[in-house]
Amino acid sequence: MIPTELKTKLQSRVSAAITNREAAVDVMKALQAHYGWLTDEAVVEAAELLGLSPLQVEELATFYEMIYRRPVGRSVIHVCDSISCWAMGGESLLSHLSGLLGIKPGETTTDGTFTLLPCCCLGNCGEAPAVMIGDTICGRVTVENAAGLIERERNR
Ligand code: FES
Repeated sequence: MIPTELKTKLQSRVSAAITNREAAVDVMKALQAHYGWLTDEAVVEAAELLGLSPLQVEELATFYEMIYRRPVGRSVIHVCDSISCWAMGGESLLSHLSGLLGIKPGETTTDGTFTLLPCCCLGNCGEAPAVMIGDTICGRVTVENAAGLIERERNR
């Protein structure tokens, strides 16, 4: 159950939206930040806040790849696998990160710190290959600087 303060904040967000669905991503992201991922309980709470059915929230949640319907690590590392990043070595980078973290794409490190996920275009194509670590988008990531980026996030 979410705290009253967060509930009030999200009710205001929904009230300010032209349609309730417009606020859906903000509501889901806020609940995800609160729980760590979008739990079943959070889906029901989002549905109540948005005036939608849990199934409608579920449909929205599964459409957005940055909404997580299962537990993730403290930081999610998204590695872009769209065309520009792929052409600039994104596939090798994903493989390298997988080796550095000791997990396969889709998995979470045993200490719960990182989850590694391939993703669609991060909108940073001009600086391919791009990676998003937590909320930070990093461009021109190489096998040489990847470890430093991970350590910086680990110590954040
Ligand atoms: S293709 Fe990777 S950021 Fe756009």
